[in-house]
Amino acid sequence: MSQDPEHLLRVRHALPAVQKLVYMNTGTAGPLPVAAIKVLQESQLAELIHGRISREANLRKLKAKVETKKLVAELLKADADDIVLTQNTTEGINFITTALKWQPGDEVITTNVEHAGVLLPLGALHQRHGVWVKVARLDSNPLEAIREQISSRTKLIAISHVSYSTGEVLPVEDIVELAHRHGIPVLLDGAQGAGAVPVDVVQLGVDFYSLPGQKWLCGPEGTGALYVRRERLKDLSPSFLGYGSVEEFDQDGNFRLHRSVRRFEVGSVNIPAITGLGASIHWLQQEVGLDWAYDRIRSLGQLTRRELAAIPGVTVLTPDRAAGLVSFRLEGVRPELLVEILAGQGIIIRSISELACVRASLGFFNTEEEVEKLVRAVAAAKINSV
Ligand SMILES: Cc1ncc(COP(=O)(O)O)c(C=O)c1O
Repeated sequence: MSQDPEHLLRVRHALPAVQKLVYMNTGTAGPLPVAAIKVLQESQLAELIHGRISREANLRKLKAKVETKKLVAELLKADADDIVLTQNTTEGINFITTALKWQPGDEVITTNVEHAGVLLPLGALHQRHGVWVKVARLDSNPLEAIREQISSRTKLIAISHVSYSTGEVLPVEDIVELAHRHGIPVLLDGAQGAGAVPVDVVQLGVDFYSLPGQKWLCGPEGTGALYVRRERLKDLSPSFLGYGSVEEFDQDGNFRLHRSVRRFEVGSVNIPAITGLGASIHWLQQEVGLDWAYDRIRSLGQLTRRELAAIPGVTVLTPDRAAGLVSFRLEGVRPELLVEILAGQGIIIRSISELACVRASLGFFNTEEEVEKLVRAVAAAKINSV
């Protein structure tokens, strides 16, 4: 395991929320770094004191968007021109599903380990356009499961990079290769991917990658981003349009869409939040070190899986191909009750009703001692419940 106690201490010092709690729910919302909130507040103060409508204010807004897109692009190893800022993962997914053209009888493939952020946009495609949603069960071989669902009518594969429920990291490169052989684009839900595992959208080959700011990137809520592979833009006609989406328009409603992914920019945005997201990513890159963070997340996840699995009555659902999410059941203790018992000891995890389990998120800032505390608390919950 990546041991550098002083570095870990410095990192933890920058995250006030992890001082008081055993913070194991980054999969829902990560802890905020002081640096991000400082920058966010400075941005709000600048708006308060200098106003939002001056030439300087406009330059500040432009700078915030450009810099945050650049930082997201660096994170994804993408070009900043292929990034649009969004309000959350789900919005980015909807941008794509509602921009593609659909015919009744078209098919979309997803999996049995998806979040509502994928399932509901696909459900809407079924209701609105008569698109069939086919579900690949990832029980044994994800690639084969997806291959079995492909047909001549498949128009999109929409899946997680990392499953929110099982914690499995999907074999995305292989899935994309298979999909592209059939001419099918792939939309990745990166809610549990970005900031938790290395992402290289070019190497993965994905067509669309939607991510949140508030989870593993430790950014403010109401922030996110969407990557779109340039070659796919010709297939995308956004359902939401505004002055931000077009190069020009007239009073008769004629318009020319931006040639780039900017066509998904609609209207005004929350500049302080965007500035805060940029500051969080910058902090992760410069102060934490992304490789260090990925390595710690993976190692702590492995340690937690191993230790929990050794407790009698615990079933770990997360497979080996995982990062920091660890889902498990404790025999005889309802997931919601286990969450409550642990919360009473300052250990914050969540339940996942779909799998009747609980999920601990291991962040780069968590410690081995905290893992031990979790393990002891779970073991004690078992004893106390019998
Ligand atoms: C895999 C997955 N997709 C989508 C979401 C929704 O994220 P957001 O609130 O950013 O839309 C979540 C978490 O809430 C998630 O875990």
